[in-house]
Amino acid sequence: MDVKMNGNLPKAELHLHIEGTLEPELMFALAERNGIKLPYKDTEAIRAAYQFTNLQSFLDIYYAGAGVLQTSRDFYDLTWAYLERCKADNVVHTEIFFDPQTHTERGIDFETVLEGIDGALSDAKEKLGITSHIIMSFLRHLSEESAMETLEMALPYKDRMIGVGLDSSEAGFPPEMFERVFAKARKAGFIPMAHAGEEGPPEYIHQALELLKVVRIDHGVRAIEDPKLMERLIAERMPLTVCPLSNVKLKVFETLADHNILDMLDQGACVTVNSDDPAYFGGYMNANFEGLVNELGMTETQARRLAANSFEASFLPEAEKKAWM
Ligand code: HPA
Ligand code: ZN
Repeated sequence: MDVKMNGNLPKAELHLHIEGTLEPELMFALAERNGIKLPYKDTEAIRAAYQFTNLQSFLDIYYAGAGVLQTSRDFYDLTWAYLERCKADNVVHTEIFFDPQTHTERGIDFETVLEGIDGALSDAKEKLGITSHIIMSFLRHLSEESAMETLEMALPYKDRMIGVGLDSSEAGFPPEMFERVFAKARKAGFIPMAHAGEEGPPEYIHQALELLKVVRIDHGVRAIEDPKLMERLIAERMPLTVCPLSNVKLKVFETLADHNILDMLDQGACVTVNSDDPAYFGGYMNANFEGLVNELGMTETQARRLAANSFEASFLPEAEKKAWM
């Protein structure tokens, strides 16, 4: 199919960590603005360091990079730069994660972070015509207690966030650890979702569904190892927010040609395409679509179904979803 056509398809992005959109150029600019010395000589040296062997090797660099984000203006600039990429790729709606603990743990106020992100998203609605939601994500390598404190901290700002997620190191940190936190979050009105089945086993997807009562699974590609689970996901149209370039960078699949997203799509699963941490993984939304065309032979029909799924799986009102599908 014509790769360029993908650029014209309206799409929603549902799996995007705003801290993962920090391009090396902005990292340097913010380091300078905030008087921080980076352990890299230049942006080329930063890019050269992005050679990952697994999820953890990425997370170590990603959390260190986020250290340059200090003020509301920093978070605004970060978010605005991402929104301009959305505009270029015809992403008309985005639901972005932020990791409060990455910032509160180093003394940055929850409000400072949220203010900057939310300010850029509000301006984007007016100036770029892009709609959005914010999802706060708990770091699963930290304790239940820390997640609970973070939830308490977020309650006064509930109206500005639609949901809660669960991310960071997966293997060894099963969803069951956060059952009580998610119960409390749901009670407060947050929509629950969780990363599961990226590096972790299908059992973690079961736990996310049964114990956290999630309405979306982030990644979920290892579901394919459990045929009964696949049947359930398909029957329930449970969305899987898949991130193809991320999966190759973090060695979940060796190459894009090995990726299972189109198999799952053809089986009837509600899979969507997303960029996850595009500054670290080599591309934004359209780069992911283009990779699927070039390396996996994605057809135009498949691309259109993936785009339609992204709206179906979004938290837009039903009438707005339909208008885009
Ligand atoms: N997986 C887990 N944690 C993350 C990711 C991811 O893909 N991106 C940012 N934090
Ligand atoms: Zn992610």
